[in-house]
Amino acid sequence: MTKVLIQFAHPRLSKSNVQKTLEQYARKVKGVTFNDLYEHYPDLFIDVKREQQLLAKHDIVVFQHPFYWYSSPPVLKQWQDLVLEYNWAYGPKGYALQGKKVFNAVSCGGGRDAYSETGYNRFPLGQYLLPFDQTAHLCRMEYLPPFVVHETYTIEDYALKTFGEQYAELLDALVNDRISAGALSGVEYLNELFPH
Ligand SMILES: Cc1cc2nc3c(=O)[nH]c(=O)nc-3n(C[C@H](O)[C@H](O)[C@H](O)COP(=O)(O)O)c2cc1C
Repeated sequence: MTKVLIQFAHPRLSKSNVQKTLEQYARKVKGVTFNDLYEHYPDLFIDVKREQQLLAKHDIVVFQHPFYWYSSPPVLKQWQDLVLEYNWAYGPKGYALQGKKVFNAVSCGGGRDAYSETGYNRFPLGQYLLPFDQTAHLCRMEYLPPFVVHETYTIEDYALKTFGEQYAELLDALVNDRISAGALSGVEYLNELFPH
């Protein structure tokens, strides 16, 4: 079984609609560890050893978070800054994460059209995620396409439920190794692997 670790970052979970729903679906998938970073570190004092041990025990890391100002909420940046240490995660002796996979599971207010050359955000979502992609590369990890929920402000309940089911299917397929490397070729969002 492949071990999946979700690094979850939402600073106001009590007000959340989309991420709260994804969380509920993700927690039900066997083989997934759900690590709520704001629950553990509301003041951003990250327990580096605990986090490194968690990473070491898992094969796939998911950064699950709302998209805030074209990036993630701050706890995830703090987590990166402190946990991904030189000669542990990267550098000449930093092989702790080698070969693990990582991707972002994000929700965005903006629609898919907005994240295009002609849209008001001007660039595809993948370009905003490049710092995650390159960080993974430096840490000798494989960066996968993101799982994405767009248009969060107008999303209908039935559509949100469908995204929840899709996310659970994806996580279950990862845990049970049902996604071949070939299946990812040409895929922009992981959602595409589980059409509804
Ligand atoms: C501080 C803040 C910044 C945001 N920045 C963006 C953004 O850059 N791009 C975008 O598409 N949506 C943005 N949004 C919308 C959120 O991504 C959206 O409300 C969230 O994903 C919904 O998930 P939730 O119901 O779990 O909170 C922002 C929202 C907030 C509160």
